[in-house]
Amino acid sequence: MSTTIQTTIIGTGSYIPENVISGNEFLNSTFFENGNILEKDNSEIIHKFSEITEIVERRYANSDQLSNQIGALAAKKAIENAGIDKETLDYIIFCHNFGDIPLNSNRTDILPSLASKVKKLLAIENPDCVAYDVIFGCPGWVQGTIQADYFIRSGDAKRVLVIGAETLSRIIDPHDRDSMIFSDGAGAVIFEGVSSEEKIGILAHKTETHSLNHGGLLTMGKSSNPNEANGNSYLKMNGRKLYEFAVIQVPQVIKKAIDKAGLSIEDVNIVFVHQANGKMDAAIMKRLFKLYGSDVVPANLVPMTISWLGNSSVATIPTLLDLVLKEQVKGYKVKKGDVAVFASVGAGMHINAFVYRF
Ligand SMILES: CC(C)(COP(=O)(O)OP(=O)(O)OC[C@H]1O[C@@H](n2cnc3c(N)ncnc32)[C@H](O)[C@@H]1OP(=O)(O)O)[C@@H](O)C(=O)NCCC(=O)NCCS
Repeated sequence: MSTTIQTTIIGTGSYIPENVISGNEFLNSTFFENGNILEKDNSEIIHKFSEITEIVERRYANSDQLSNQIGALAAKKAIENAGIDKETLDYIIFCHNFGDIPLNSNRTDILPSLASKVKKLLAIENPDCVAYDVIFGCPGWVQGTIQADYFIRSGDAKRVLVIGAETLSRIIDPHDRDSMIFSDGAGAVIFEGVSSEEKIGILAHKTETHSLNHGGLLTMGKSSNPNEANGNSYLKMNGRKLYEFAVIQVPQVIKKAIDKAGLSIEDVNIVFVHQANGKMDAAIMKRLFKLYGSDVVPANLVPMTISWLGNSSVATIPTLLDLVLKEQVKGYKVKKGDVAVFASVGAGMHINAFVYRF
């Protein structure tokens, strides 16, 4: 057997904002659809929302916090967890979509890059630590990880910090009931190249971009409130079409990644899937197993945080990973040798997945 460089996880960290936003926070919202105020009672809308998404609560950052700051908090924890000297990082890849958005500004600030801001906050001096951002919809963190894997396997980098952080609460339309899906958060993971004969770490990955027919499913757009004349743009989605797209396409991309790793679904012990709608994830898993001719999705395969964390976009998967590795998701524990699948879907429309052996 020959020795090759493999990309392994050596530390994780996350920052879960303290502000718990329950459904009740939307009781006084004015929701519009097709230009008209929704007739239904808000308590009924909120109840229906939880029923169709499994989201009960979400988290919003403090009013004075920016994405780069919560990203840095998660990164600091990951560095501590890895027990490494921060000056030994070769890359900081910060995955986000909206940059820093000060409260009530509806304005993106991405200069300098959030990765540069984190490097400054962490007080890393080494100029050989290259810091840049990745904008790739919700699958940004998975894509940043795939880039890290290329850098590491090329031998050019030894340690890479990949952060996913977002403050979606700053860019959602308060008059759109779909906005209740979104939340804020930050997760960070440090990858390290190890020379090994064993096949460990990232085994394979697959990414697809479906822009031509599906690029319009998640875009920026006007408020649902036709009377709003402030010119602001908000995060808008065609939820139903997005759901249909994800349920059909995501299982296929996951299977392609598993095929590339030379494995089958029975080899997979845990699936870290992007969390935008609990029911959607269940449907994705059902279809994935169908692709392997099975009608049964085993219990305790897919850790879920959606009920209390909502959809924090790029932060979702690294936060979930951090919580599982620290045994904070009931019923889930990872041991050496376990095979994991990481998969995400989002604006682009992008879908990606990688297979990892712990
Ligand atoms: C947005 C989403 C929650 C809507 O759910 P849905 O089941 O597709 O909604 P439908 O339009 O078919 O409507 C079903 C019912 O839910 C209601 N409904 C739709 N959206 C709702 C919302 N956001 N809140 C409350 N009720 C909602 C409808 O009024 C309808 O009610 P009725 O049965 O009483 O008439 C769902 O499509 C979804 O989660 N899509 C994926 C979104 C996603 O992945 N986004 C992020 C990607 S990174």
